[in-house]
Amino acid sequence: MLSGTDPVKLMKQQVGFTAADRVQSGAIVGLGTGSTTAYAIQRLGDRLKSGDLKDIKGIPTSFQASVLAKQYGIPLTTLDEVDRIDVAIDGADEVDPQKNLIKGGGAAHTREKVVDSLAELFIVVVDSSKLVTALGTTFALPVEVLPMAIAPVTRALEALGGTVELRMGVKKDGPVITDQGNMVLDVTFAAIANPAEMEVTINNIPGVLENGLFVNVTDVVLIGEIKDGEAIVREM
Ligand code: A5P
Repeated sequence: MLSGTDPVKLMKQQVGFTAADRVQSGAIVGLGTGSTTAYAIQRLGDRLKSGDLKDIKGIPTSFQASVLAKQYGIPLTTLDEVDRIDVAIDGADEVDPQKNLIKGGGAAHTREKVVDSLAELFIVVVDSSKLVTALGTTFALPVEVLPMAIAPVTRALEALGGTVELRMGVKKDGPVITDQGNMVLDVTFAAIANPAEMEVTINNIPGVLENGLFVNVTDVVLIGEIKDGEAIVREM
């Protein structure tokens, strides 16, 4: 039973652990970013330590993932060293019924898209609050932008019907700076009717590095939810 434990935390933990348990020895593993994936990274480290898992190498999607991997004893590699990623585990901010995603709540979506889209098997780990009927309905779309292009990109996104906000730091004055040294615009649309088209349209604006729409990339969605007072995991 859940008494006294934060149910959201429990859902994230269960789903992160379940995804990590699907990783096999010898795998090259894309390590996602965020509070849910953090549990998967922790579990991978625990499995390595216990001997249940051997010879994996991680490819981190962010500074955060790299720090966690080192903390939990997961050896790291880079895309220069390997020619495949067997499995990637990553969170999401929204998941639609077609398994398309909005990501980038942690400003890591550019590297995440590189790693997740290369993976032979891409497993998304979310709690049930992330499920939506249409993308853009609960979460603004993150867009990573070169700092010198913030003004023209903002105008171009407004012309597409978006309400644009420069993401500001928490406990840091001024804007959020990504791991690549860029800034993030959060764009609110009423709902994104055609995610595939919107992904390409936004990425074609000069100065945009990457937006947080992940279309036709996901293989498996694992959902943590609470049933009869227990945290369980189901596959979409
Ligand atoms: C990082 O930029 C994001 O794409 C995260 O993967 C996403 O925000 C999910 O994070 P949580 O698991 O913390 O909700």
